[in-house]
Amino acid sequence: MGPKILWVLLPLGVYAALLALAWRGRAPSRLAVNMHSSLLLMAYLLATAGLGLFWVANQQLPVFDWHYLFGYTTLLLLCLHLFFNLPLVLRWFGQPAHSPAPPGASRWRGIVRLAAGAGMVVLAFMLGTHWAGPSGAPAKLASDTTALATVVQYHEYSSESRRGVFRRAPAVAGGDPPAPFKSYPGAATVALPRAGPLAAPDGRGLSAVLQAPAAPRDRPLDLAAIGQMLHLSAGVTARRGGLALRATPSSGALFPGELYLRVRRVEGLQPGLYHFDPDLHRLQRLGDLPAPSGWLALEQADAALVLAAVFHRTGYKYRNRAYRYVAADLGHLLENARLAAHYVGASARVIERFDEALLAREFGLDGLQEGVIAVAAFNASSGTAMPGAGRQAKQDGDLGVTGSVHRATSLAPPLPLPAPGSLPDTGTAAGALVALPAPAPAQADLAATILQRRSQRRFSARPVPLRELSSMLADMFQPALLSPALHADLVVNRVEGLAAGVYRYLPAQHALQPVQLGDFAQQAQNAALDQDVIGDASVVLLLSADRNLALQHGARGYRMAFLEAGMMGERWLLSAVARGFGACPVGAFFDDEAAALVKAPAERWVLHFAALGYAAD
Ligand SMILES: Cc1cc2nc3c(=O)[nH]c(=O)nc-3n(C[C@H](O)[C@H](O)[C@H](O)COP(=O)(O)O)c2cc1C
Repeated sequence: MGPKILWVLLPLGVYAALLALAWRGRAPSRLAVNMHSSLLLMAYLLATAGLGLFWVANQQLPVFDWHYLFGYTTLLLLCLHLFFNLPLVLRWFGQPAHSPAPPGASRWRGIVRLAAGAGMVVLAFMLGTHWAGPSGAPAKLASDTTALATVVQYHEYSSESRRGVFRRAPAVAGGDPPAPFKSYPGAATVALPRAGPLAAPDGRGLSAVLQAPAAPRDRPLDLAAIGQMLHLSAGVTARRGGLALRATPSSGALFPGELYLRVRRVEGLQPGLYHFDPDLHRLQRLGDLPAPSGWLALEQADAALVLAAVFHRTGYKYRNRAYRYVAADLGHLLENARLAAHYVGASARVIERFDEALLAREFGLDGLQEGVIAVAAFNASSGTAMPGAGRQAKQDGDLGVTGSVHRATSLAPPLPLPAPGSLPDTGTAAGALVALPAPAPAQADLAATILQRRSQRRFSARPVPLRELSSMLADMFQPALLSPALHADLVVNRVEGLAAGVYRYLPAQHALQPVQLGDFAQQAQNAALDQDVIGDASVVLLLSADRNLALQHGARGYRMAFLEAGMMGERWLLSAVARGFGACPVGAFFDDEAAALVKAPAERWVLHFAALGYAAD
């Protein structure tokens, strides 16, 4: 922020200097100041509108500082402008017309002019919001493509680049934001206990909970355990500025996720189907369990969590990039649900193949406006995954590419494997491998860590110790649950004992491979849409997926890769908080610049960024 304010004030400063030079010793005329400030006002208005349209609206920048700094300066100039021009305007309203008019007519003429002006402003606003130009209607992908081609096309379509900002018409909000919470009026409700007391039931710290459940419970799950699990997954953990912030992060704090519960054997809870209402921390009963369909992994579990997404919550703001954000968001949520189950002593099985349409119908969802994204079963048998039934919704609805890509990644008959591509993985090495010190497990309590986590966007200059970085990488890189395609790269800015540069993490050796050495903080910030959170960070994590590996079993792998990235991203955040750091997930970036930064091979898709550092005071 520091130097930015200087840039923003520069034109004003230059003008003040010119004024001082040109009018040495005498005051400038009122008319001259009026003219000059009008010109400056127009320049600032242009900058504000330009930044607003092309950066804030189109690129969905979450950090609005350029925009509001110009906004404040504009306000200042506007006051100056009004000060000089208000008397003129007032005189104009009261002025008699050239032709003699009956007494009182000039006042009426002024009122009519004023009303006409106001009417035109209202009309322009309505036209602007209702006819948004080419990007107002949701885009569609070619309908004759296969599911695999659809996701590849979608990924390209939703990629950002600097040129794209000017090529595409500015995005406008797709209607009003939907309600942040769903409710079922008239449904029977069950109040839930919240997470706590803040001590792991078996005293194990975060790193242990990441890997496995506590000693298996000798009794079934109960209502208190379910309450804790839901609170630690999607519960409201802070209320700020009209927002209900949750246990897991969400792009733009839009929280598209909805949790549904299939309860078979939970003490204190009647078997059946439930919806979790995080606002009031309660369950709403939706009905009885459906007749068994032979899907043992789900039907023999004590309970199963179905994670759905209301696409419009994210889509109204992020439009074509919404599906990426939704899948990454729900990956973060899924990981918390898995860890919370471990925390209360239950096993959690993240299920890869399931029939979205069937599950959506069970819970009364249309499957498109609100689609099923992920499923986890608690205390499940090792039963089979759900057979492929290909019951996808037929229409994309009005969701445009979000609908297309959700349909393409929903269960479908097996698809041919994509042609194997070459993955030159290590050809960009810039130095010898850096062996990482042995990781130290984080001892912090999982519930306390989740409840205190918030996105941190300002970092101090204090470097991160190498051993802590090593431990965080070990925490983050657990065996893949949904996609084997993920890679991790780091932009190292300030780590004790490690030269600044870009490194690839090699999990098998627990080592770092230098990709390019030097100061890449600014390049990383540029790639992340110029967000300070990335430039300031001591370390930036970039998660990317090998496209061929991700899609080896079909288009569904696309969603699974984002979910896996979200799960890894959540472990990165929790490990950071447990170790006394601040961290922030970042999904807004230029895809081409991010790939160039980590020298990603052509088949690699960068999916996610996350910043890390000690929080600024
Ligand atoms: C997938 C994803 C992408 C995000 N992208 C950004 C981003 O580009 N910039 C940013 O400052 N925050 C980003 N965030 C963080 C959210 O803004 C943040 O989670 C939200 O405001 C809620 O606040 P909390 O994390 O403190 O609970 C992202 C979060 C997620 C899960």
